[in-house]
Amino acid sequence: MDDQIRVLIVDDIAETRDHLTKLLSFERDLTVVGAAASGPEAIEMAQKLLPDVVLMDINMPDMDGITATERIATVVPTAAVVMMSVQGEADYLRRSMLAGAREFLVKPFSSDELTASIRQVHEREREKAGRMSAVAAPAGHAMLHPEREPGRVVAVFSPKGGVGRTTVAVNVAVAAVVESGANVVLMDAAFQFGDVAILLNLNPRSRSIADLIPEMQGGGEVESLDTFTVTHSSGLRVLLAPPTPETADLITPAAARHIVESFRAQSDLVVIDCPAWFSDTTLAILDTADVILAVLTLEITSIKSIRLFLEVAEQLGYPPDRVVLVLNRADSALGIRVADVEQSIGRKIDHQIISDGRTVVYALNRGVPFVTSNREMQVSQDILRLAASITGESPTRAPSRAKVERKRGIFSLR
Ligand SMILES: Nc1ncnc2c1ncn2[C@@H]1O[C@H](COP(=O)(O)OP(=O)(O)OP(=O)(O)O)[C@@H](O)[C@H]1O
Ligand SMILES: [Mg+2]
Repeated sequence: MDDQIRVLIVDDIAETRDHLTKLLSFERDLTVVGAAASGPEAIEMAQKLLPDVVLMDINMPDMDGITATERIATVVPTAAVVMMSVQGEADYLRRSMLAGAREFLVKPFSSDELTASIRQVHEREREKAGRMSAVAAPAGHAMLHPEREPGRVVAVFSPKGGVGRTTVAVNVAVAAVVESGANVVLMDAAFQFGDVAILLNLNPRSRSIADLIPEMQGGGEVESLDTFTVTHSSGLRVLLAPPTPETADLITPAAARHIVESFRAQSDLVVIDCPAWFSDTTLAILDTADVILAVLTLEITSIKSIRLFLEVAEQLGYPPDRVVLVLNRADSALGIRVADVEQSIGRKIDHQIISDGRTVVYALNRGVPFVTSNREMQVSQDILRLAASITGESPTRAPSRAKVERKRGIFSLR
């Protein structure tokens, strides 16, 4: 019985479920452990029954097969999904694979095609599991890097654009490298119009997340993530946004999550510059983050948006301490005081960064992070304090820019 491949069937049409169950019942090595009529039911049954293979219909009302596959890939990573579709379009195929499906069958398919696909994906999964450590671990990446504590993930977000997310993300990431010698990755998740390359004077055409996406297909681990990052002179590794905006469509929530988790497994800290809107992909990143730096300015529109964001964060079940409020350009008040903001949003501001257009814009135009080029300025000191609160280091005012000795264990806050 041990050799049995346990199959879960997911299709909203009862007749198809029955037909597939009957077909598979003729196969000695296959056992149908359950049949679900919807995406949510499939996720529930997959968690309970732990199937080896899930046969998933792509078109279902409520939750489609791609979304259900994404969820299953997260909660039951050992289950291999075979997607079934009446359309064989490249777009469907690509989205299914990015969601974590291992195989794609176009209806109508023969019983031989079906059983061969199930056996093939199962065999591939078994081989993969065999290559990994025999120790069961909750997430695949932990198996590949058992010696390393997973790093912290810090997402820099604001529901309104132009408030300084990229400025904060870049300078905090550089500060973490330079001040604590941490192994840091900065990911530009403003996939369509990322600015990180400009702030760090990096060549946006060299390599980017667009090169990594094909490597992630099939849900496997990518060991040599450094092949896809560009290293800044500070030692910060950067995963740039795609060179052309249309490539952004390829980055599904599942792919983004997979990339973040892979980098987490290989770094002390992953800083993510998010776009200023809620897409499924942004939400997937925020879900993955240990800390969300929510950036706002002393403008009424920014304050209103942050208030809405805090409500959404609560609805999403984020613990209150996951969201850290960062007030940027804190002294550029035109009639609004910090106390007014705190009263309006019903929360204390956690960090303040002074407004210093001269330093910030000059650094931006030169492509040099001000936290290193103008370390003594108040705006840099504010960033250093914020970075220290993330890395657990105590901020120093020492003028030295030399990289201190690499330390381990400073991310014990997790
Ligand atoms: N503390 C500051 N003092 C002065 N200027 C600042 C400060 N922080 C950011 N800026 C300036 O504000 C502008 C917007 O900053 P930035 O690009 O970092 O914001 P963003 O939220 O990432 O914007 P976008 O929505 O375009 O991605 C830039 O010109 C930047 O130089
Ligand atoms: Mg930006």
